[in-house]
Amino acid sequence: MIGLAVAWRAAQRGLRAVVLERGTPGEGASYVAAGMLAPVTEATLVEQDVLRLGLASAEAYPRFVEELEQLSGIELGYLPWSMLMIARDRDEAEALDRELELRRSLGLSVERLRPSQARQLEPALAPTTRLALEVAGDHAVDPRKLTAALLKAVAAAGVELRVGAQVARLDDGVCLAGGERLAAEQVVIAAGPWSDAVDGVPDEARVPIHPVKGQILRLHDPAGPGLLSRVVRMSSGYLVPRGDGRYVLGATMEERGFDTTVTAGAVFELLRDAGEVVPGSSELVIDEITAGLRPATPDNRPAIGPCAVPGLHWAVGHYRNGILLAPVTAELVVAGLMGEALPALAAEFSPTRFAGVAA
Ligand code: GLY
Repeated sequence: MIGLAVAWRAAQRGLRAVVLERGTPGEGASYVAAGMLAPVTEATLVEQDVLRLGLASAEAYPRFVEELEQLSGIELGYLPWSMLMIARDRDEAEALDRELELRRSLGLSVERLRPSQARQLEPALAPTTRLALEVAGDHAVDPRKLTAALLKAVAAAGVELRVGAQVARLDDGVCLAGGERLAAEQVVIAAGPWSDAVDGVPDEARVPIHPVKGQILRLHDPAGPGLLSRVVRMSSGYLVPRGDGRYVLGATMEERGFDTTVTAGAVFELLRDAGEVVPGSSELVIDEITAGLRPATPDNRPAIGPCAVPGLHWAVGHYRNGILLAPVTAELVVAGLMGEALPALAAEFSPTRFAGVAA
């Protein structure tokens, strides 16, 4: 999705863009992602720069969605509801109060709700709910619809999409596995967790990336919508309503290389925790169980923009926030492609911070 967003914005700025996709567009993390747009819910003390980037992208999202919906005719499932962070017991409530303090210390707007107030908003929450925080500015979108819309948008913008094009190496252009060589003045690497496997990138320009596995379920309510309107974030995961009776329940965080198997234990724990927080979720029908790979850098920050090799740009390492960060990443990468100075916001995400690390 990040690659498509970059290509779309690049074409809108008058650049001729070719997207090289070795498989099917949007079949990686974008296909598995739940689509939470949650800079505040996901905020951490040590990654405040990621928070700032996320807030900037969240602000850009309504326009991004509107533009894509108009261009593609696809409704993207962008839901305006607030997000709820839930504690089930005293320990979790204490932890949630610490989360509240952190967000308040960062100047973020979060409301502390008594259980009865939370259940007024979402009656499906368990009567045992101990505490809730309401995050008004965090929302959700349907990433699969977003990818479908982006595919239409890039086609309309004149981007050439080459499906099944496996990049063999970068070498004064881009060499494909079949031997074809494409001339390219500039190259953007946006290959998710596979990005640091691209051959021909000098060590001083490489960005180290590793996959972080997430197992996730897709479910639906045979009775239709209504169980939940808001995304519910619990200590172990999240339940994301799509607004039409479908739900996404995720996700594990596992360091297991490129393994994408789904395991009984992980699925059991996700379902158990969801059932404790939203008892009615036990009645949902399981449609899919999948595992995806989040692309992570060693400092959990994305690498966005140009690097030490002239003409080479990165749009990688979005970790837990790829869907959220797509609009701002596309803007920043395209500014780099146009030779413009990047805004101060981008400084912490320069790929040059990894110079020599991969070696
Ligand atoms: N953004 C949620 C996740 O990566 O699981």
